[in-house]
Amino acid sequence: MAKKPIPVEELNEEQAAAELARLAREIAEHDRRYYQHDAPTISDAAYDALRQRSEAIELRFPGLVGPESPSQRVGAAPQEKFGKLKHAVPMLSLGNAFTEEDVSEFVGRIRRFLQLPADQPVEITAEPKIDGLSISLRYEEGRLIQAATRGDGYEGENVTANARVVDDIPERLKGTGVPSVIDVRGEIYMAHEDFARLNEKQAEAGEKVFANPRNAAAGSLRQLDPSITASRPLRFFAYAWGEAPELPAKTQMGVIEKFKDWGLPVNKLMRLCNSVDELLAYYHGIEEKRASLGYDIDGVVYKVNRLDWQERLGFVSRAPRWGLAHKFSAEKAMTILEGIDIQVGRTGALTPVARLKPVTVGGVVVSNATLHNEDEIARKDIRIGDTVILQRAGDVIPQILAVVPEKRPRGAKPYEFPTLCPVCGSHAVREEREGGKTDAVRRCTGGLICPAQRKERLKHFVSRNAFDIEGMGDKVIEEFFDAGMIEGPHDIFTLEARDRKLQPPLAQREGWGEASARKLFDAIAARRKIPLDRFIFALGIRHIGETNARLLARGYGTIDAFLAAMETAAKDRSSEAWHELTSLGGIGEIVAGGLAEFFGEPHNTREVRKLLDELEVVPLEAVSTSSPVSGKTVVFTGALEKMTREEAKTMAERLGAKVAGSVSKKTDLVVAGPGAGSKLKDAQKYGVEVIDEDEWFKRVGKG
Ligand code: IVH
Repeated sequence: MAKKPIPVEELNEEQAAAELARLAREIAEHDRRYYQHDAPTISDAAYDALRQRSEAIELRFPGLVGPESPSQRVGAAPQEKFGKLKHAVPMLSLGNAFTEEDVSEFVGRIRRFLQLPADQPVEITAEPKIDGLSISLRYEEGRLIQAATRGDGYEGENVTANARVVDDIPERLKGTGVPSVIDVRGEIYMAHEDFARLNEKQAEAGEKVFANPRNAAAGSLRQLDPSITASRPLRFFAYAWGEAPELPAKTQMGVIEKFKDWGLPVNKLMRLCNSVDELLAYYHGIEEKRASLGYDIDGVVYKVNRLDWQERLGFVSRAPRWGLAHKFSAEKAMTILEGIDIQVGRTGALTPVARLKPVTVGGVVVSNATLHNEDEIARKDIRIGDTVILQRAGDVIPQILAVVPEKRPRGAKPYEFPTLCPVCGSHAVREEREGGKTDAVRRCTGGLICPAQRKERLKHFVSRNAFDIEGMGDKVIEEFFDAGMIEGPHDIFTLEARDRKLQPPLAQREGWGEASARKLFDAIAARRKIPLDRFIFALGIRHIGETNARLLARGYGTIDAFLAAMETAAKDRSSEAWHELTSLGGIGEIVAGGLAEFFGEPHNTREVRKLLDELEVVPLEAVSTSSPVSGKTVVFTGALEKMTREEAKTMAERLGAKVAGSVSKKTDLVVAGPGAGSKLKDAQKYGVEVIDEDEWFKRVGKG
């Protein structure tokens, strides 16, 4: 266990120097994990505590402040894989406030610095502090010419190609008064609902799931391939600027209003305040709304409204005197860890889940929490029986921050992560990655021998974006699998023919009848004909999500061409087939490796052949370029009654339209069902045409 730190007031100079060096190292390491790898290993609150301690020591021993001090740096140096871009004006950070006193001190300092008379009001803007990643967008003559991440504040990564595919970022600024040069700064983030959907997709494809929306946004922006960024639902708010020789207004609020006129998204919750009390009332108001905003925020930001005052106030080390971040404290609770369950996923990943004594955190009863993986459990030394501190931030899955060592029951033993699959008993191993690293995830090696993996693969096979067999959800798969009625995917298609011989036949099983059995058989029959991309996706191959499945279907055209190529590529990585596969745009070595692994297993190819005896796999339908909606951006909202959201999306895409999740000025058409809310309002705001479902069918010639 770590030693209790010596209080700052009691440190002598030698201890202070050693402590500062240790803190600088620790903070730099956390910065690297956060900024370069989008994978923080401590909570924001714990990180802030490290910085606060370092700053408090520097305040007592100013002579010890050196160039390596965290107070002299922001972020971490840019990563190598992107080109670098120098910021014309550095992208600095904001000082943090945690208490009401910190806020009144901030305003007091401004007054003193500007030597304002007591009766002179100070206008300060207040706005949410978005928990995403900051970006600087350079516009010249109104055109986007460059985009860079913050990096170390002085030099960031060149993410221009990726910024261009973010819907919220305009390619051109519109309206009047657009200056010849301006660096627009703001935050890239991901909304909660988009984050949940993305993670669902990632999990289905056996790919990395993100711990929170911020990491998802950062990981999505920093893709070497912009088409991946384009497929991720990133959003943007503009709230500041860098180099800007001709500003369109004299106040913070005035510039932001101009940003809005130019077509940049700005946060509509920004307000002007005239006193500390108003700032605090704003802070509490936003705190109350926090959970319902739909995106993560971690506090509010205050800025002096008058730009001439901002200029006079200037900066101290890494932060402006005219701005402040007033942070929220995360919602925390203490409870007891009653057990650790190990779930086995479709790709064999063993995921530890904490079983907790139910406790309320931020108004929600929590009885499970993710433990991520075995390293995480070891690092935090989490033991069954421990009292743990739980944190729930925004909408995100609760996390265990730490254990309370004093409350550890006697004899509690370090947790031993199973090395055998709890379901099938096969060895569970951590794979070697390139560069000698081992995978954080331990996987069951049982493959299709493992009932858990088989069951999960079946659930995936029939799921909405795969075979989409109506009435065959997770529960039905569990039931049929446990009863031995279905072992592999092809058994689904022989079920009806085998039904007479089943003991008992489906219609006589508990909860079933003639009508429901008939309905299920019909739903299965309706899927005997399936487009190639869905078929490939349904196989549940590692790294093959919907996007890659579509790429493969387009690249190979027919199931026969696809299978022949996969079987050859799997056998020989120097073959023409392997070369062809890795030269398909979007398919890299890792994805190709997933395919080779799958098609290199005889039991998989056997299963595919058996499936093909039952099915007709048709080439991907060509995307239309001549339909009335081709090239248009469409948003579906409200309760659709004649089609599922997914069907609507597929139909629109086949007709050559682009389907977006939110309404912006770029939207051409909104199809609204009953109960449509904010998106309808947005449509009115931007003057976008709104039609109902019937009109949609009429327009696309299916009415
Ligand atoms: S203004 C001189 N406004 O918070 C810095 N920053 O701790 C001016 N952030 O680097 C930044 N929401 O990444 C500003 N409404 C907001 C913000 C915001 C989030 C981030 C930004 C910045 C960090 C500062």
